[in-house]
Amino acid sequence: MLPHQQIELRLQAAVRAVLPDADLAGVLVRPCLDPKFGDYQSSALMALAKPRKLNPRHLAQEVLARLDVTDWCAPVEIAGAGFLNFRLKLPALSAALDATMRGDHLFFTPAAQPRTVVVDFSSPNVAKPMHVGHIRSTILGDTLARLLRLLGHRVITDNHIGDWGTQFGMLLVGWKRELDRAALTADAIAEMERLYKQISAECKENAATLEAARQELVKLQRGDEENLRIWREMIALSQVQFDAIYARLGVKFDHTLGESFYNPRLKAIVDELTTKGIARESEGAKAVFFDDIPQLKESPALVQKSDGGFNYTTTDLATLAHRLETWQPDEIIYVTDGRQQLHFQQVFAAFRHWHPEAKLKLAHVWFGSILGEDGKPFKTRSGETVKLADLLDEAEERAFKVVSEKNSELPEAAGREIARIVGIGAVKYADLLPNRQSDYVFSWDKMLALSGNTAPYLQYAYARIQSIFRKAEATPDTRPPTSNLQLVQPEEIALAKQLLNFGLTLEAVAAEYRPNFLCNYLYDLAGRYTAFYENCPVLKAESATRASRLALCDLTARVLKQGLDVLGLEVLDSM
Ligand code: ARG
Repeated sequence: MLPHQQIELRLQAAVRAVLPDADLAGVLVRPCLDPKFGDYQSSALMALAKPRKLNPRHLAQEVLARLDVTDWCAPVEIAGAGFLNFRLKLPALSAALDATMRGDHLFFTPAAQPRTVVVDFSSPNVAKPMHVGHIRSTILGDTLARLLRLLGHRVITDNHIGDWGTQFGMLLVGWKRELDRAALTADAIAEMERLYKQISAECKENAATLEAARQELVKLQRGDEENLRIWREMIALSQVQFDAIYARLGVKFDHTLGESFYNPRLKAIVDELTTKGIARESEGAKAVFFDDIPQLKESPALVQKSDGGFNYTTTDLATLAHRLETWQPDEIIYVTDGRQQLHFQQVFAAFRHWHPEAKLKLAHVWFGSILGEDGKPFKTRSGETVKLADLLDEAEERAFKVVSEKNSELPEAAGREIARIVGIGAVKYADLLPNRQSDYVFSWDKMLALSGNTAPYLQYAYARIQSIFRKAEATPDTRPPTSNLQLVQPEEIALAKQLLNFGLTLEAVAAEYRPNFLCNYLYDLAGRYTAFYENCPVLKAESATRASRLALCDLTARVLKQGLDVLGLEVLDSM
């Protein structure tokens, strides 16, 4: 067990002795934001004192009288309004690092109660290129899935692609009338996009085309053989291109159940909602009303249009029902941009009316937009939306320039491979670093810089450590870096303490769905490592110190690698 977990258990026991009725789930310790006050802090006693109308400092004294953490901590201090501050003793710190060297853990332990979590992310639309807006969903969702898996949960990823809807009427008209087979073979999505643009422009001016599109759509919905065949081909061709992007990003899905998968259920769901009085008629359409929810009072969720067609919301309710039956999840996470907030509030609220007994947690993890350096939505020079594939090409190309400038002797193929890892890593990291709910400015120069809080900086920090090990092996006194860490220099201690907080950081990311916590943690780790390396000679130190410092290098590299892996970044042994 890690020191903070031991402290937590003791603290919970002490609280139980003083307040037998207290809910101990909130009795936690967290890293102290300012090391001046200690290494860990608990604010739990203030939260417990308030509803009981107790003086929090008083309560803190009573709990302290029953708290024995001398094995791990210097005497505990009560601070401010009733915080408890804990300062680790050095032997406890080095014992925790020794346990990691022995392979007991990497500063985190798998969840005691694994949960089943469905992550719904990426979800691009058929016959349209994936654009930068989908990149955030893909990268963020993939990171959350990786993290939850690492923490021992059962994770199911599901790509809810947009493979149904009115656009297929126009696409079918275009396909039948204008399809250029050669263009389709060369770049299927570009050709389908051309067809869609042409017919949708025509529909605005020509009532006959609009009517033709409507009829093609109706035929598709009724199961017309030819239209179904074309529609399936459009999906298959799109999927090939989506898959190519996912392969480049290293993203995998357990399932790709598009919107159309749920069509057979939609009617029954609307009938059930209507019979149960959850949905009712309104101007010829059917909607779920939320008279009980102030912020949704004016925003009923449409589940059936007046022409009989179903809505995005209806499909999402059917999707929820399917996931519930199939996987019995404890939680479903939806990753989309912020413009879908109202939609998910409606879906979640409608679901609660429909299944009031369900204990399922529903989370909409939303994000802001990507802006160009001019502060406006990120576009190409000619004003088009940037396609994801082009963006990744450019990332690799630019990274290749940086790599070749740094090391002109590198053979082309090796340089390309480094550029791929650095370029893709830079795009992902730039996306994960800002608070997800704020818009961020896309800047090639910033994200590819070798200094500052960037992917190349962290990847480089990792590669530097690997080069120490290469040199260490070349010198005679090579002992495998194992236990008995000597933490003496302030930089060694500071590094060790940062390592110890890896697991707490992972848990904080999972609790708030905020990978930026992990980015900042890793940046801080690399900084502390640099300070350590500059002040504490490793290879030239005498044998016991050398082994201990090599062990610190090794642990740092392992945490960097694991942390970057959660963010979906690969590492390199040399750069
Ligand atoms: N296809 C949608 C879009 O591109 C995103 C789908 C998100 N997931 C969901 N279950 N609604 O906006």
